[in-house]
Amino acid sequence: MVKKAIMAAAAILSAAFFILSASAAARADVDTLDEIEKVFKPAEACSKCHSDVYQQWKKSVHGESVLHSLEGIYQYVAEGILKEPDRQKRSVKAEAMKCFVCHAPMLDMASEKLMGEVLDSVKQSYKHGLPDAKKKSARETLARLNVSCFVCHNAKAVHPPGKPDQNTMYGVKAAGSSPFHSVKKTAFLDNAIFCMQCHGVYTAPDREQIICSTISQSYRDQYVAAGGQETCQDCHMRKKNRGHAFPGAYVLDTLKDSVTMLVNVRTVKDLPIDSTKWFPAAAVTIDLTNNAGHRLPDGCLWTARIVMDITAKDERGQTVWSRTEEFFQPGLDIEGNRTYNAWQIKDMLDFTLPPRKTTTEKYFAVFPEGAGKINLEVRLRYIHKKGVEFIMQNEKRTLRYE
Ligand code: HEC
Ligand code: HEC
Ligand code: HEC
Ligand code: HEC
Ligand code: HEC
Repeated sequence: MVKKAIMAAAAILSAAFFILSASAAARADVDTLDEIEKVFKPAEACSKCHSDVYQQWKKSVHGESVLHSLEGIYQYVAEGILKEPDRQKRSVKAEAMKCFVCHAPMLDMASEKLMGEVLDSVKQSYKHGLPDAKKKSARETLARLNVSCFVCHNAKAVHPPGKPDQNTMYGVKAAGSSPFHSVKKTAFLDNAIFCMQCHGVYTAPDREQIICSTISQSYRDQYVAAGGQETCQDCHMRKKNRGHAFPGAYVLDTLKDSVTMLVNVRTVKDLPIDSTKWFPAAAVTIDLTNNAGHRLPDGCLWTARIVMDITAKDERGQTVWSRTEEFFQPGLDIEGNRTYNAWQIKDMLDFTLPPRKTTTEKYFAVFPEGAGKINLEVRLRYIHKKGVEFIMQNEKRTLRYE
């Protein structure tokens, strides 16, 4: 039954599929998104036949790769492209593609005029005082820009200098055939370098380096160098049947998988130098092991950090001792000043948790004289930005003193 329905829907769709794509060769001066979508099929064009994959993708960050990073892209448009004299002199498209090459690759086909309209939508979605209906329509335009099925299974699926064939979907298995589009097998899609096309430092045609994601660098130079053998696809797609949901740092399950936290506490009594009194104390050792295939956390969001809070409270609930550690990757501009803006970051420092390594923090905590019971709590949080955070790990210990 289901199969029949699919085939029927398929027959109707396939006709449209071929006619539309035949009419549009890969051009770079297209004036509307509708025309771009004749080549770069929107995910909705695949959903009828690949509905499970579509449902997963729709919820993934790839499914909203402009809306999800809109704040950062808006800053670049308002303060970079439209304000910096050197950028003002250049084509709007060349400057905007410095982000969209990864966040919305289909815009490679856009004319200067269409790119101007897209940037207007970016501004309108933020503009104060603009009627809600206008804002909504601007966001609807931007929702059409994403890392779509077609981007991965056609446009980016062939290793350069090769070029993808039209009306062909590239797959890893490519078993079976479809009358609706040709299917070709490629090993490229199954390799880490396929994901690294977008998940790493990018050099634009004018040689400007854009440091947004830095995952490729730590994947190769730290994870693989330390003996790691899994690929991005192993951890982000195959493990736990994650498929096309591509969970990362916004999904609690992957966040919990990513760091093992081991807390060891030994209660002792301290005798401070020159004192004649004993104080309740503890030797605290915390081992954090990064199980991911790269540093944690990774830019860009450049505000992202993993924070460890260690808090000791007495019987009345008063905090009597505490420490905080932060693991993060500060971005620096050309002058060496810290910045959170993707387009200004040209250098970085690394205070992150390295992959396949255990980072150990040790403390000698001394509590107030006479405390009988201490509640110790160690909490690991992933903070993306103000108000967006997840608790990755949480451990509690009760320490008793006679
Ligand atoms: C080489 C590809 C690439 C380029 C070029 C690029 N980005 Fe990104 N960007 C990514 C990837 C991949 C992620 C998500 C992965 C991560 O967090 O490591 C991301 C994440 C972001 C985020 C964080 C989204 C969130 O809330 O988690 C922002 C904001 C952002 N990018 C803005 C920009 C801006 C602005 C530019 C242009 C100046 C840009 N990016 C250029 C690939 C790129
Ligand atoms: C970020 C890149 C990316 C995007 C976006 C993407 N895919 Fe995939 N897809 C892959 C990779 C990589 C594999 C191979 C996974 C493996 O080896 O386990 C794959 C596998 C598949 C398969 C075969 C295996 C299966 O799960 O059934 C189909 C069909 C498929 N994708 C369709 C789609 C459709 C439809 C969409 C959009 C709704 C989509 N893909 C979006 C990268 C992507
Ligand atoms: C009219 C139905 C239909 C539409 C529309 C359709 N497909 Fe397919 N697709 C199939 C069939 C049938 C197969 C054969 C393999 C199978 O049975 O899964 C297939 C196979 C694939 C494969 C190969 C998977 C592998 O085994 O490695 C990929 C990738 C794929 N499709 C992606 C897409 C993408 C991306 C779109 C949208 C641009 C799309 N398909 C649109 C029916 C369709
Ligand atoms: C065409 C460019 C492109 C390709 C290819 C691509 N990605 Fe992405 N990916 C992005 C962008 C852009 C984002 C961030 C979007 C945002 O936050 O707005 C992202 C986000 C992600 C995230 C979520 C990040 C988070 O902050 O939680 C994961 C996980 C991810 N990608 C994994 C993969 C894997 C695995 C592959 C290869 C199979 C891959 N990507 C291929 C562009 C790409
Ligand atoms: C050994 C497993 C493993 C491998 C290999 C791996 N990842 Fe991850 N990745 C994870 C886990 C677990 C997380 C969630 C933890 C976090 O983000 O703090 C994650 C997080 C991410 C994020 C969000 C990072 C952030 O902090 O914003 C992105 C993007 C990502 N991975 C992409 C990739 C890409 C691209 C590759 C291949 C070059 C890759 N991963 C290889 C396990 C892996």
